[in-house]
Amino acid sequence: MFRAALLYLSSASWARRLVTGWGFARRAASRFIAGDTLAKALEVIQRLNNNGLFTTLDHLGENVTKPEEAVRATDEYIEVLEQIDDTGVKSNISLKLTQLGMGLDFELCLENMQCIAARAAEFGIMVRIDMEDSSTVDRTIDIFRQLRQAGSTNVGLVFQSYLYRTEKDLQAVLNEGASVRLCKGAYKEPPDVAFPRKADVDANFDKLTALLIDVAMATGSIPASPDGKVPPVTAIATHDEKRIAFAKSYAADTGFSMNALEFQMLNGIRSDLQTQLASEGYPVRVYVPFGTEWYPYYVRRLAEHPANVYFFLSNLLRR
Ligand code: FDA
Repeated sequence: MFRAALLYLSSASWARRLVTGWGFARRAASRFIAGDTLAKALEVIQRLNNNGLFTTLDHLGENVTKPEEAVRATDEYIEVLEQIDDTGVKSNISLKLTQLGMGLDFELCLENMQCIAARAAEFGIMVRIDMEDSSTVDRTIDIFRQLRQAGSTNVGLVFQSYLYRTEKDLQAVLNEGASVRLCKGAYKEPPDVAFPRKADVDANFDKLTALLIDVAMATGSIPASPDGKVPPVTAIATHDEKRIAFAKSYAADTGFSMNALEFQMLNGIRSDLQTQLASEGYPVRVYVPFGTEWYPYYVRRLAEHPANVYFFLSNLLRR
């Protein structure tokens, strides 16, 4: 109920207008957001790299309402790629297709994605397509497939263990050689589409982790590239210690190489666990978002963890 209310607020424009006007809300969000500018994000990335962590850079934005916004977001991502290459940081990029216009015009989005994938390929950088709400899954997979067919092998995508359909989708794209990040899922979904109980989402996460490892073992797993720009095929994105323990033990039991199993976490969450896993020898990648469009991303983080909301509300009341 609480989570559902927050997820509703994450996409309500009236709430966005209200909350983004509060200076303290921006300060609270800075726990997760690297800064408003690319320069600030690169500083954060450099620090994470110095601690042995790879990163994926997200220029925040989603659900654009005008084609020119989608084109601007594309240009900004090209700039991000150029800066990653110029500075030599160990980072790839993550993006959302509704930021590139998928909700407006499928062909425009595909074209924008092709530009980004082509420029990234010139620099040897991987592009990860985030998965958004369930209404976008078919179109996201479709764009991914069209990119692959056109020769873009540096593009991967994300699957969510809360969706009933994911196991089938995952099997299909893994057979096509896709690089996948597995996460639990962060959007508001009805019970006919997604498991309503957390225990089922977690159990499915472990089942899908095993599937990812089995397929990677059967097809020959690809370890991370030394510069960290190209991640291994199997990326497990969670802060849940039980899910991480399962992935580690399943990989060890099947003889799956440690450096082909990448753990991914969000900036500002469980930094201790990030450095611990890296010190054990696993590739660890931190998702680093930046930009002024932080509101929906931040509210999804509040929805995941009630303690974040108490912190937010106590600051609001103190004012
Ligand atoms: P869970 O929610 O069970 O949390 C486990 C523990 O982690 C908690 O007990 C707490 O300690 C800590 N924790 C989790 N969330 C926290 C928070 N917000 N604040 C503080 N502590 C927190 N989703 C999606 O739908 N599409 C996508 O493309 C992506 N991409 C993505 C990339 C990466 C790298 C990560 C790590 C996550 C995503 N997600 C995502 C988000 C994902 O679906 C999920 O909502 C969050 O990761 C939280 O779930 P956990 O797996 O951490 O488990």
